[in-house]
Amino acid sequence: MAEPFFSVRGLRKRFGTAEVLHGVDLELARGDVLALIGPSGSGKTTLLRSLDFLEKADAGVMHFDGENIPMPEADGARIRSFRRRTAFVFQNYNLFLNRTALENVTEGLICVHGMKKADAESLARGLLERVGLAGHEDKYPSELSGGQQQRVAIARALAPDPKLMFLDEPTSALDPGHRGELIRLLSGIAAEGRTMIIVTHDLVFASRMSNKTALLIDGNLVEAGPTAAVFSPDFRPADPRTSAYLASYHQS
Ligand SMILES: Nc1ncnc2c1ncn2[C@@H]1O[C@H](COP(=O)(O)OP(=O)(O)OP(=O)(O)O)[C@@H](O)[C@H]1O
Ligand SMILES: [Mg+2]
Repeated sequence: MAEPFFSVRGLRKRFGTAEVLHGVDLELARGDVLALIGPSGSGKTTLLRSLDFLEKADAGVMHFDGENIPMPEADGARIRSFRRRTAFVFQNYNLFLNRTALENVTEGLICVHGMKKADAESLARGLLERVGLAGHEDKYPSELSGGQQQRVAIARALAPDPKLMFLDEPTSALDPGHRGELIRLLSGIAAEGRTMIIVTHDLVFASRMSNKTALLIDGNLVEAGPTAAVFSPDFRPADPRTSAYLASYHQS
């Protein structure tokens, strides 16, 4: 059988003596949008960070884009090569505060990808326009709203044309009115065939945004399947804790 575009097998992560991820398996086809949901403290952020090598996994093998990567052994060159094809949008956006919106988007293109400044600026202007920030190019993060800063972070993530994007709690700082806007923006990005893993505790967002959903409880992926099935009232969970977790969605 053909290898999936992205998979991990047996991902384990410990902090000190406490194991937080107990052997996670995931599989995504190209273009999948996976919502990774679960209660607070279940290990969602740790999983996402481990997948991008921001945390060093204690065990696990990744397959990405035709390449097998034993995760604990991945060295700097492997990680840089992986990161050139992927992007991470942090919960707090991690913008450079002393750089304008435009510079935030061009910085990586110039410094990491070796692009000429003029080319990087022209690409960045197009991306800022696409995320609805035309006219804000020269503003510093402190002069932008939270939602606008997030869109700079998304433009910056898109700039190197990543095949796989990781997003941690993209709705957490947005009021509900902006959720629809974000869904439209990210759906457009997904429609380009980009694969995404989105950590969220926002079940409405997860149900609208993703085609696959995985539920993490206490460091174990207890459910995984098509989003329509997981959020269906007829869903038959594999784990007894799932119904209680999904109850708030069905009651809303
Ligand atoms: N750097 C760290 N050092 C030690 N323990 C950590 C570290 N990061 C996370 N943990 C622990 O790992 C567990 C999972 O945390 P994580 O942040 O991954 O959860 P989460 O599912 O993202 O939660 P939330 O929904 O609140 O963001 C928690 O018990 C947390 O205390
Ligand atoms: Mg988290």
